[in-house]
Amino acid sequence: MDVILFGPPGAGKGTQASAVVDACGALHLSTGDIFRKHLREGTELGLLAKKFMAGGGLVPDDVVVRIVTSRLGDEDAKSGVLFDGFPRTVRQAELLVDWLVANGREVGVAVNLVVADEVVVGRLSGRRTCSSCGATYHVDHNPPAVVDVCDRCGGPVVQRDDDSVETVKKRIEAYHAQTAPVLDWLRERVPVVDVDADRPIADVRNDVVAAVS
Ligand code: AP5
Repeated sequence: MDVILFGPPGAGKGTQASAVVDACGALHLSTGDIFRKHLREGTELGLLAKKFMAGGGLVPDDVVVRIVTSRLGDEDAKSGVLFDGFPRTVRQAELLVDWLVANGREVGVAVNLVVADEVVVGRLSGRRTCSSCGATYHVDHNPPAVVDVCDRCGGPVVQRDDDSVETVKKRIEAYHAQTAPVLDWLRERVPVVDVDADRPIADVRNDVVAAVS
Protein backbone atom coordinates (compact mmCIF):
# COMPACT_ATOMS: atom_id res chain seq x y z
CA MET A 1 0.00 0.00 0.00
CA ASP A 2 1.18 3.55 -0.75
CA VAL A 3 0.90 5.88 2.25
CA ILE A 4 1.53 9.61 2.66
CA LEU A 5 2.76 10.78 6.06
CA PHE A 6 1.83 14.46 6.06
CA GLY A 7 2.43 17.31 8.49
CA PRO A 8 4.49 20.43 9.19
CA PRO A 9 8.22 20.36 9.93
CA GLY A 10 8.71 18.66 13.28
CA ALA A 11 5.27 17.02 13.36
CA GLY A 12 6.95 13.64 13.92
CA LYS A 13 6.91 12.16 10.41
CA GLY A 14 10.41 10.72 10.69
CA THR A 15 9.77 9.55 14.26
CA GLN A 16 6.65 7.61 13.25
CA ALA A 17 7.94 6.28 9.92
CA SER A 18 9.49 3.06 11.21
CA ALA A 19 6.22 2.04 12.90
CA VAL A 20 4.37 2.52 9.60
CA VAL A 21 6.98 0.48 7.76
CA ASP A 22 6.61 -2.30 10.35
CA ALA A 23 2.81 -2.15 10.09
CA CYS A 24 2.38 -2.24 6.33
CA GLY A 25 5.76 -3.23 4.89
CA ALA A 26 6.10 -0.11 2.76
CA LEU A 27 9.47 1.30 1.69
CA HIS A 28 10.27 4.51 3.64
CA LEU A 29 10.96 7.30 1.14
CA SER A 30 11.92 10.62 2.75
CA THR A 31 12.81 13.34 0.26
CA GLY A 32 14.63 15.26 3.02
CA ASP A 33 16.78 12.18 3.78
CA ILE A 34 17.56 11.77 0.08
CA PHE A 35 18.71 15.39 -0.20
CA ARG A 36 20.80 15.14 2.99
CA LYS A 37 22.49 11.98 1.65
CA HIS A 38 23.39 13.82 -1.56
CA LEU A 39 24.63 16.76 0.52
CA ARG A 40 26.94 14.48 2.55
CA GLU A 41 28.25 12.91 -0.66
CA GLY A 42 28.77 16.34 -2.28
CA THR A 43 26.84 15.46 -5.44
CA GLU A 44 25.52 18.04 -7.90
CA LEU A 45 22.00 17.41 -6.61
CA GLY A 46 23.19 17.87 -3.03
CA LEU A 47 24.77 21.24 -3.85
CA LEU A 48 21.61 22.35 -5.64
CA ALA A 49 19.33 21.24 -2.78
CA LYS A 50 21.57 22.93 -0.20
CA LYS A 51 20.78 26.36 -1.67
CA PHE A 52 17.09 25.89 -0.87
CA MET A 53 17.31 23.82 2.32
CA ALA A 54 19.72 26.22 4.06
CA GLY A 55 17.23 29.06 3.66
CA GLY A 56 14.24 27.00 4.75
CA GLY A 57 12.68 27.02 1.27
CA LEU A 58 11.58 24.17 -0.97
CA VAL A 59 13.66 22.43 -3.63
CA PRO A 60 12.05 23.00 -7.09
CA ASP A 61 9.24 20.59 -8.03
CA ASP A 62 10.85 19.23 -11.20
CA VAL A 63 13.98 18.17 -9.27
CA VAL A 64 12.00 16.52 -6.45
CA VAL A 65 9.54 14.68 -8.68
CA ARG A 66 12.30 13.36 -10.95
CA ILE A 67 14.08 11.86 -7.94
CA VAL A 68 10.95 10.35 -6.42
CA THR A 69 9.55 8.81 -9.59
CA SER A 70 12.90 7.32 -10.55
CA ARG A 71 13.03 5.62 -7.13
CA LEU A 72 9.44 4.36 -7.42
CA GLY A 73 10.39 2.09 -10.29
CA ASP A 74 12.86 0.12 -8.16
CA GLU A 75 12.03 -3.45 -7.13
CA ASP A 76 11.87 -2.66 -3.37
CA ALA A 77 9.32 0.11 -4.00
CA LYS A 78 6.86 -1.99 -5.96
CA SER A 79 4.80 -3.32 -3.05
CA GLY A 80 4.21 0.12 -1.54
CA VAL A 81 5.93 3.30 -0.41
CA LEU A 82 5.63 5.48 2.69
CA PHE A 83 6.06 9.06 1.44
CA ASP A 84 7.61 11.25 4.17
CA GLY A 85 7.97 14.95 3.31
CA PHE A 86 6.47 14.44 -0.13
CA PRO A 87 4.29 15.77 -1.75
CA ARG A 88 4.96 19.28 -0.50
CA THR A 89 3.25 21.30 -3.23
CA VAL A 90 0.02 20.73 -5.12
CA ARG A 91 2.09 20.22 -8.29
CA GLN A 92 4.07 17.42 -6.59
CA ALA A 93 0.79 15.84 -5.42
CA GLU A 94 -0.68 15.94 -8.93
CA LEU A 95 2.42 14.37 -10.46
CA LEU A 96 2.60 11.68 -7.76
CA VAL A 97 -1.03 10.64 -8.14
CA ASP A 98 -0.70 10.67 -11.95
CA TRP A 99 2.35 8.40 -11.69
CA LEU A 100 0.64 6.00 -9.29
CA VAL A 101 -2.51 5.76 -11.42
CA ALA A 102 -0.45 5.20 -14.57
CA ASN A 103 1.26 2.32 -12.76
CA GLY A 104 -1.91 0.72 -11.38
CA ARG A 105 -1.39 2.04 -7.84
CA GLU A 106 -3.13 4.48 -5.53
CA VAL A 107 -2.65 6.29 -2.24
CA GLY A 108 -4.26 3.97 0.35
CA VAL A 109 -4.29 6.62 3.05
CA ALA A 110 -2.73 9.97 3.93
CA VAL A 111 -2.03 10.36 7.65
CA ASN A 112 -2.02 14.02 8.67
CA LEU A 113 -0.04 14.74 11.85
CA VAL A 114 -1.64 17.80 13.46
CA VAL A 115 0.54 20.00 15.67
CA ALA A 116 0.73 23.74 16.39
CA ASP A 117 3.57 25.96 15.14
CA GLU A 118 4.84 26.85 18.61
CA VAL A 119 5.20 23.15 19.51
CA VAL A 120 7.16 22.54 16.33
CA VAL A 121 9.74 25.24 17.11
CA GLY A 122 10.52 23.61 20.49
CA ARG A 123 10.76 20.17 18.97
CA LEU A 124 13.08 21.13 16.13
CA SER A 125 15.43 23.25 18.21
CA GLY A 126 15.86 20.23 20.56
CA ARG A 127 16.04 17.63 17.82
CA ARG A 128 19.16 15.59 17.25
CA THR A 129 19.65 13.34 14.22
CA CYS A 130 21.94 10.38 13.52
CA SER A 131 24.20 11.46 10.67
CA SER A 132 24.66 7.80 9.63
CA CYS A 133 21.15 6.31 9.54
CA GLY A 134 18.91 9.39 9.97
CA ALA A 135 17.21 8.22 13.21
CA THR A 136 15.77 11.20 15.11
CA TYR A 137 15.92 12.02 18.81
CA HIS A 138 15.03 14.93 21.08
CA VAL A 139 17.22 16.15 23.93
CA ASP A 140 14.25 16.09 26.36
CA HIS A 141 11.43 13.94 24.92
CA ASN A 142 13.35 11.15 23.20
CA PRO A 143 17.11 11.14 23.96
CA PRO A 144 19.40 8.31 22.80
CA ALA A 145 20.44 5.91 25.60
CA VAL A 146 24.05 7.14 25.34
CA VAL A 147 24.51 10.89 24.76
CA ASP A 148 25.22 11.70 21.07
CA VAL A 149 25.31 8.00 20.04
CA CYS A 150 22.58 6.47 17.90
CA ASP A 151 20.61 3.64 19.56
CA ARG A 152 19.93 2.07 16.19
CA CYS A 153 23.34 2.05 14.47
CA GLY A 154 25.90 3.55 16.90
CA GLY A 155 26.51 6.51 14.56
CA PRO A 156 27.11 10.12 15.71
CA VAL A 157 23.99 12.05 16.77
CA VAL A 158 24.16 15.74 15.77
CA GLN A 159 21.98 18.85 15.24
CA ARG A 160 20.74 19.43 11.67
CA ASP A 161 21.95 22.65 10.01
CA ASP A 162 18.36 23.73 9.23
CA ASP A 163 17.15 23.30 12.84
CA SER A 164 18.22 26.80 13.95
CA VAL A 165 15.26 28.84 15.24
CA GLU A 166 15.54 31.32 12.33
CA THR A 167 15.52 28.61 9.63
CA VAL A 168 12.77 26.66 11.39
CA LYS A 169 10.55 29.78 11.21
CA LYS A 170 11.19 30.02 7.46
CA ARG A 171 10.37 26.31 7.04
CA ILE A 172 7.08 26.84 8.88
CA GLU A 173 6.28 29.80 6.59
CA ALA A 174 7.02 27.64 3.55
CA TYR A 175 4.76 24.93 4.99
CA HIS A 176 1.78 27.28 5.37
CA ALA A 177 2.30 28.96 1.99
CA GLN A 178 3.07 25.95 -0.21
CA THR A 179 2.41 22.67 1.62
CA ALA A 180 -0.76 23.20 3.69
CA PRO A 181 -2.85 23.59 0.48
CA VAL A 182 -1.84 20.03 -0.47
CA LEU A 183 -3.98 18.76 2.39
CA ASP A 184 -7.19 20.21 0.90
CA TRP A 185 -6.21 18.76 -2.46
CA LEU A 186 -5.65 15.33 -0.90
CA ARG A 187 -8.92 15.41 1.07
CA GLU A 188 -10.84 15.61 -2.20
CA ARG A 189 -9.06 12.60 -3.67
CA VAL A 190 -7.76 10.10 -1.10
CA PRO A 191 -8.71 8.95 2.43
CA VAL A 192 -7.13 11.31 4.97
CA VAL A 193 -6.86 10.46 8.68
CA ASP A 194 -6.05 13.32 11.07
CA VAL A 195 -3.94 12.36 14.08
CA ASP A 196 -3.33 14.68 17.04
CA ALA A 197 0.48 14.64 17.12
CA ASP A 198 0.81 16.79 20.23
CA ARG A 199 0.76 13.76 22.53
CA PRO A 200 3.36 11.24 23.72
CA ILE A 201 5.15 9.53 20.84
CA ALA A 202 3.72 6.07 21.70
CA ASP A 203 0.12 7.39 21.66
CA VAL A 204 0.65 9.05 18.29
CA ARG A 205 2.20 5.83 17.01
CA ASN A 206 -0.85 3.77 18.01
CA ASP A 207 -3.16 6.02 16.00
CA VAL A 208 -0.82 6.17 13.01
CA VAL A 209 -0.49 2.39 12.92
CA ALA A 210 -4.28 2.00 13.24
CA ALA A 211 -4.74 4.35 10.28
CA VAL A 212 -2.49 2.32 7.97
CA SER A 213 -3.47 -1.16 9.16
P1 AP5 B 1 12.55 17.26 5.67
O1 AP5 B 1 13.73 16.50 6.11
O2 AP5 B 1 11.41 16.54 5.04
O3 AP5 B 1 12.07 18.14 6.88
P2 AP5 B 1 10.61 18.50 7.44
O4 AP5 B 1 9.41 18.15 6.72
O5 AP5 B 1 10.80 19.93 7.72
O6 AP5 B 1 10.44 17.54 8.53
P3 AP5 B 1 11.36 17.27 9.69
O7 AP5 B 1 12.32 16.17 9.35
O8 AP5 B 1 12.00 18.54 10.18
O9 AP5 B 1 10.30 16.86 10.80
P4 AP5 B 1 9.52 15.49 11.08
O10 AP5 B 1 8.08 15.70 10.88
O11 AP5 B 1 10.16 14.32 10.37
O12 AP5 B 1 9.76 15.42 12.64
P5 AP5 B 1 10.67 14.40 13.49
O13 AP5 B 1 10.08 13.04 13.50
O14 AP5 B 1 12.10 14.53 13.09
O15 AP5 B 1 12.97 18.40 4.63
C1 AP5 B 1 14.10 19.24 4.85
C2 AP5 B 1 14.24 20.20 3.69
O16 AP5 B 1 14.45 19.47 2.46
C3 AP5 B 1 13.01 21.08 3.41
O17 AP5 B 1 13.01 22.24 4.22
C4 AP5 B 1 13.20 21.39 1.92
O18 AP5 B 1 14.16 22.38 1.71
C5 AP5 B 1 13.76 20.08 1.37
N1 AP5 B 1 12.69 19.17 0.91
C6 AP5 B 1 12.40 17.95 1.43
N2 AP5 B 1 11.36 17.39 0.77
C7 AP5 B 1 10.98 18.29 -0.18
C8 AP5 B 1 9.96 18.29 -1.15
N3 AP5 B 1 9.09 17.26 -1.28
N4 AP5 B 1 9.84 19.37 -1.95
C9 AP5 B 1 10.69 20.42 -1.84
N5 AP5 B 1 11.70 20.48 -0.93
C10 AP5 B 1 11.84 19.42 -0.10
O19 AP5 B 1 10.45 15.04 14.95
C11 AP5 B 1 10.98 16.30 15.28
C12 AP5 B 1 11.48 16.28 16.75
O20 AP5 B 1 10.35 16.16 17.61
C13 AP5 B 1 12.41 15.10 17.08
O21 AP5 B 1 13.37 15.54 17.98
C14 AP5 B 1 11.49 14.05 17.75
O22 AP5 B 1 12.18 13.25 18.68
C15 AP5 B 1 10.47 14.98 18.43
N6 AP5 B 1 9.13 14.40 18.49
C16 AP5 B 1 8.49 13.73 17.50
N7 AP5 B 1 7.24 13.38 17.89
C17 AP5 B 1 7.09 13.87 19.16
C18 AP5 B 1 6.02 13.83 20.12
N8 AP5 B 1 4.86 13.23 19.84
N9 AP5 B 1 6.24 14.45 21.31
C19 AP5 B 1 7.41 15.07 21.60
N10 AP5 B 1 8.47 15.12 20.73
C20 AP5 B 1 8.31 14.53 19.54
